[in-house]
Amino acid sequence: MAIERTFSMIKPDATARNLTGAINAKIEASGLKIIAQKRVHWSTGHAQKFYEVHKARPFYNDLVKFMTSGPIVLQVLEGENAIKKYRDVMGATDPAKAEAGTIRKEFAENIERNSAHGSDSVENAAAEIALNFAGFEIVG
Ligand code: CMP
Repeated sequence: MAIERTFSMIKPDATARNLTGAINAKIEASGLKIIAQKRVHWSTGHAQKFYEVHKARPFYNDLVKFMTSGPIVLQVLEGENAIKKYRDVMGATDPAKAEAGTIRKEFAENIERNSAHGSDSVENAAAEIALNFAGFEIVG
């Protein structure tokens, strides 16, 4: 199986409740390595660009407001099959549908305030890492 990198975010609902360590513990327990991490506060423009793919969706404006409402933790995770593995560790987008033990089942407040983001494909992982870690050399 291939060693991959995926882009992860710990969202404002989770940083507000001091859950960074608890979420990182779940990531590390899965075998994924956190090879880059920084806590930032996104501008509206950056959030709009990141979520551009959802621009036509009814929740887009609220999502941008939420993602700029407080600090977020941006990460690069590395490991075997990292993209799918992290999506399994997060659980379904809607916490009501997420499996027991997943980040979203344990911590998410609702489908928007869902504590974590993870890339959904190799192409998007590369693009999301490039957008958020430009200028950083990421060493695994
Ligand atoms: P994420 O994995 O970051 O990708 C897009 C985000 O949009 C998603 O997590 C949620 O935070 C949010 N989202 C997705 N679907 C909905 C929805 N139906 N209503 C509100 N927010 C949503």
